[in-house]
Amino acid sequence: MDVRKAYLDFFKSKGHEVVPSAALVPNDDSLLFTNAGMVPFKDIFTGKVPRPTPPIRTSCQTCIRAGGKHNDLDNVGYTARHHTFFEMLGNFSFGEYFKKEAISYAWEFITEVLKLPKDRLYVTVHESDDEAYEIWQTHIDKERIYKFGDKDNFWAMGETGPCGPCSEIFYDQGSEKFHSDEDYMGGDGDRFLEIWNLVFMQFEKDEKGNVSKLPKPSIDTGMGLERVVAIKEGVFSNFDSSLFMPIIKKIESLVGVKYEYDKGASYRVIADHIRSTVFLLAQGTNFDKEGRGYVLRRILRRAVRHGYLLGLKEPFMYKLVDIVCEVMGSHYSYLNDKKEFVKELIKLEEERFYTTIASGIELFNEELKNTKDIFSGEVAFKLYDTYGFPLDLTADMLRESNLKVDEAKFDELMKEQKLRSKASWKGSGDKAKTEGDFKNLLEKFGKNNFVGYEKIECEAKILAILDENFKIIDELKNGENGWIMLDNTPFYATSGGQCGDKGTISKSEVLKTEKFFDLNLSFVKAAENFKTNQIIKAVVGYEREMIKRNHSATHLLHAALRKVLGDHISQAGSSVEASRLRFDFTHPKAMSFEEIKEVENLVNFEILKAIPAKTEILELSEAKKSGAIALFGEKYASKVRVLSFGDFSKELCGGTHVKNSSEIGAFLITKESGVSAGVRRIEAICSKEVINYTNHLRDELETINSELKSNEPLIAIDKLKNEIKELKNELKKTSNNKELEIHNINGVSVIVSKFDGDIKTKIDELKNRYEKVVVLLENIKDDKITLCAGVKNAPIKAGDLVKQTALIVGGNGGGRDDFATAGGKDISKSKEALKFGLKYIKEKLS
Ligand code: SER
Repeated sequence: MDVRKAYLDFFKSKGHEVVPSAALVPNDDSLLFTNAGMVPFKDIFTGKVPRPTPPIRTSCQTCIRAGGKHNDLDNVGYTARHHTFFEMLGNFSFGEYFKKEAISYAWEFITEVLKLPKDRLYVTVHESDDEAYEIWQTHIDKERIYKFGDKDNFWAMGETGPCGPCSEIFYDQGSEKFHSDEDYMGGDGDRFLEIWNLVFMQFEKDEKGNVSKLPKPSIDTGMGLERVVAIKEGVFSNFDSSLFMPIIKKIESLVGVKYEYDKGASYRVIADHIRSTVFLLAQGTNFDKEGRGYVLRRILRRAVRHGYLLGLKEPFMYKLVDIVCEVMGSHYSYLNDKKEFVKELIKLEEERFYTTIASGIELFNEELKNTKDIFSGEVAFKLYDTYGFPLDLTADMLRESNLKVDEAKFDELMKEQKLRSKASWKGSGDKAKTEGDFKNLLEKFGKNNFVGYEKIECEAKILAILDENFKIIDELKNGENGWIMLDNTPFYATSGGQCGDKGTISKSEVLKTEKFFDLNLSFVKAAENFKTNQIIKAVVGYEREMIKRNHSATHLLHAALRKVLGDHISQAGSSVEASRLRFDFTHPKAMSFEEIKEVENLVNFEILKAIPAKTEILELSEAKKSGAIALFGEKYASKVRVLSFGDFSKELCGGTHVKNSSEIGAFLITKESGVSAGVRRIEAICSKEVINYTNHLRDELETINSELKSNEPLIAIDKLKNEIKELKNELKKTSNNKELEIHNINGVSVIVSKFDGDIKTKIDELKNRYEKVVVLLENIKDDKITLCAGVKNAPIKAGDLVKQTALIVGGNGGGRDDFATAGGKDISKSKEALKFGLKYIKEKLS
């Protein structure tokens, strides 16, 4: 049975709109990852945006619960049902139906579609929820309904956001296999499996902990796909189901040992973590030192350590990517497109960790021997800081010995370096978004009309004015600042990487234009009084001319990069301004100079071809089918704008563009650099900026010529290089010819000395010059000592000589009998070393 499909079809038949899974990285600063099916609908639940039509939806949402409020990372592998990555089936009602319908839909689906036996089902309700208790009794015996408190039956999205009492449905897997003390309803055992959570969303918690009522009681349900698939397939652990078994089989083949449930925690950790890793990378999150990318690193490194335990001593996770794509790719086709790229990123990250894992484990084991009660916070920090072992990896390793780490100490040390992981994502709570009067405006006017594709100036009516705190006001007085909403606005609001327009409204300056929940608002420094309903003249600033050139150039650049580097690249951010453009994209290595030139040439060629820009408004599905590039996780409306330049470039885009590629004039890449592992950045300029740039280069060349006193700089540089080479040779000869003191001991020439030149050549030269010779030379450079010994026709081994001598300077080394080298660090003992060497030689020769 295809459970995903059955679920979505069932709720579709009940009038729900089926929506695709939103991105794992939510458009919400209060959350690390999308951790439940309701996350994409938060603003609808809280009433920040109007309800959609129909106000009921269903989805199969990919979720991650690692880091953040709902963090399952620590349990994964050790239970049959915890995951970092999972799929949540859900149905949602935004103030439409409530408890009665939600419960009856759930019951119908479970008993009539999934056909789970009724005598295996139990439910729970919140202890205060008599209503749900009553409703459930119309479906199921009273004895099968349990009441629990907030801990079990109150669900909240995060520290802030929508929340409410909930009712959970449990499946009894039977006493045959499960008989631990925890295997009772409400216990921690695996026997009673929670499969579906029906949340009766009624409240919203704010940052201060205040709880207010939602505009309308709503429904948010979440059913774990993996659990239901396991039950339908008659297996006791999610990992034994068809969603995981193919991955576990592949791990078995790499390890060479068969998976058994009781000894299989490491297999399960790996099978779970590779799914999160593949999905996050394919959606554009990358390994990083902080934020979401650091959680991804923690997940991968935890899995690698488990592979290491299983005997995998070199990168292996990347070898599991194919099988993950095989299992999941038919439903999430973007995985197949990103497969090779994801493999490369995983391999790079594994290689990075494999360089320190062995020494880290050694340090860990050493400390473990000395640990009685609690593992040292200092060592845990060193493991983190020097060996790349995230704290939860150390904790996971300690779990096997039933020990805990001194987290207080670790945190103290960490504080000095700041807990970067949190800092970069924990939003300060965007005041504008939470407190602004946007809902009123949306309800009254809907979104305002952008006319700036065709016009850069027009007459328009002021629909509304907001003060700097986004509160509606009637009037904006001369000298004040505020936001103006026009009925028809020519000003482009910052979005899709393109910066917002400046310009003027009547005599006043527009400093910026931004979007708030689809409302296009311009920030004005009033040089006159403005009133609602007033008719004004809006004029877009001159910067737009260059912004549109840079935006069109960005599209051509994107297309050229795909042609030169391959289709795996995807946009990871862009910024289009009047003076320059910046484009970030996924690619595992730095571009070569040749590749950069090829991309630049391709773009310039398209500019020279003078291709008219074509804009079409298409259905989203139609646009995607036509091959237009869309950004992953970007929320697009059902109708989208598609911009193309001939066959060369076709992209979904709401930005402003040139009418013909020739308007761009010229294009030049000024810099290619890395942003983070696997993400590259191109900075470029176009049009008149290219002329400014080349003029600047010409000025620099002038200065170089005058410094070189030549009009042919390359020839002059060549000449200089030759001169330097000759001078260097001269210098070498002088130092090589410096006379060294020669001792004659029993007919053997012995030279023991400091030497600054090429030490090896000098030894060869001395060995050629004398019939019987022992040489020991010492060279000091950059705080390091090099000792070299050469022996010819004498009863001394060069290897022994340097080895013994190196001990004096705290070093080590050795080599052949006739030639050997060693290094040392203790410069203060350099003279002593030579004294020792001479004494050693004398003793051996006498
Ligand atoms: N939000 C609830 C949960 O995640 C139900 O979807 O359990």
